[in-house]
Amino acid sequence: MITISNVSVDFDKKRILRKVDLDIDRGDFLYIIGPSGAGKTTLLRTLYMDVIPDEGYVQVEEYSTMTIKKRSIPYLRRRLGIIFQDFKLLEDRSIYDNIIFALKATGVSKNECKKKAVKALTNVGLFEKRESLPGELSGGEMQRACIARALANDPILLIADEPTGNLDPATAKEIFRLLKKINKLGTAVLVATHNYKIIKQFPGKIIYLKNGKIVKEIEDYR
Ligand SMILES: Nc1ncnc2c1ncn2[C@@H]1O[C@H](COP(=O)(O)OP(=O)(O)OP(=O)(O)O)[C@@H](O)[C@H]1O
Ligand SMILES: [Mg+2]
Repeated sequence: MITISNVSVDFDKKRILRKVDLDIDRGDFLYIIGPSGAGKTTLLRTLYMDVIPDEGYVQVEEYSTMTIKKRSIPYLRRRLGIIFQDFKLLEDRSIYDNIIFALKATGVSKNECKKKAVKALTNVGLFEKRESLPGELSGGEMQRACIARALANDPILLIADEPTGNLDPATAKEIFRLLKKINKLGTAVLVATHNYKIIKQFPGKIIYLKNGKIVKEIEDYR
């Protein structure tokens, strides 16, 4: 489904990723761990082609970093759901309107937008709160709203960069319960995290990145 092949990335002539190989299949629940500065976020950015590798390539369905045109990148991103530690919700509108806004930007018709937004909010348990502004929600609810936004387009892969970095342990657990549920429903999930406690509670395949290199892969950590 997704292939990262021999990927190296340089920033300011400094090598940040070194010959990274990774395949992601339907049904995978995958963690990327490793010290701060190891290149986790950079690796995620190559998947949504915000960073184009200096060597090797990333292939997401029919899209390859070797051949993709700038104008096709929004189409690629429609296939992926992306969530961030700091939410990145628009504060001036309801979470329902946040999702509609994101869907519209990817060219979905008005009617489809409404249907998809309702479905996604229901899926994360926030339908009742759909008219709330982000500022009126708890951290966990905000993160669930982000997950709903990421899920609205039925992505093949959900990418989460440190999704529980701003949450207390109980709320973090709730978010991972949701990510596991989404994974069971058929979306691959890829999480970069420092939260080893969570990894113990919600096992998955682990990729350990150090100095831009995969130094260890653990099939199913418990
Ligand atoms: N746009 C950029 N320009 C120059 N250097 C960058 C850029 N983005 C990241 N780096 C450098 O690349 C290295 C890897 O950064 P990255 O953000 O991928 O690490 P990380 O593993 O996600 O770390 P953390 O756990 O702290 O989030 C760091 O040394 C960082 O300073
Ligand atoms: Mg990071």
